[in-house]
Amino acid sequence: MTSTASPRTQPASSGRDAGSRRVFTALTGLAALAILLQGLWAGMFLEHDGERDAAESWIEVHATGGEVAIGLAALAAIWAIVRLRYRRDLVIGAVVLTVLLVLEAYIGGLIVDDGKDSLTPLHIPLALLLMAVAVWLPVRAGRAGEPARG
Ligand code: HEM
Repeated sequence: MTSTASPRTQPASSGRDAGSRRVFTALTGLAALAILLQGLWAGMFLEHDGERDAAESWIEVHATGGEVAIGLAALAAIWAIVRLRYRRDLVIGAVVLTVLLVLEAYIGGLIVDDGKDSLTPLHIPLALLLMAVAVWLPVRAGRAGEPARG
């Protein structure tokens, strides 16, 4: 009787699987770094609070950093869908990270453009949650999938 391994259990620890997971680890690791740096850029514009030009420049850096983080997370999600489909944990995690980052950027935009300062207590804890997800993903990718059956 021939065994039909499901896609979820297929490549397990093959060389191709390890290479795909390494790329995913690099993309999500860089996303985590970009998110960490968002805290630094925020610290810079808060330090220059009251000095319009300096604060505005750092807010722009913070906005660009957000785009970089979104781009890296989206690439990781696409990579996981195409190359690591059988790893539902990584696919779902990377999609969730991308969606939450877009939400974070949208909330940031509302704070800056529409003066919705009341959203700052949502923006900052969400950034901490994002950091946790972005660190969990590369650590999780380091674990090989279930061994192939049959
Ligand atoms: C600990 C981390 C973070 C802190 C403390 C923080 C803080 C802030 C604050 C206070 C503002 C409003 C600035 C103002 O009122 O002038 C803001 C805006 C913004 N934040 Fe964050 N943020 C953090 C992380 C992130 C992350 C991870 C993203 C990623 C998407 C992000 C994206 C944005 C964007 C796009 C804006 C609007 C910038 C603009 O429209 O020019 N932030 N952030």
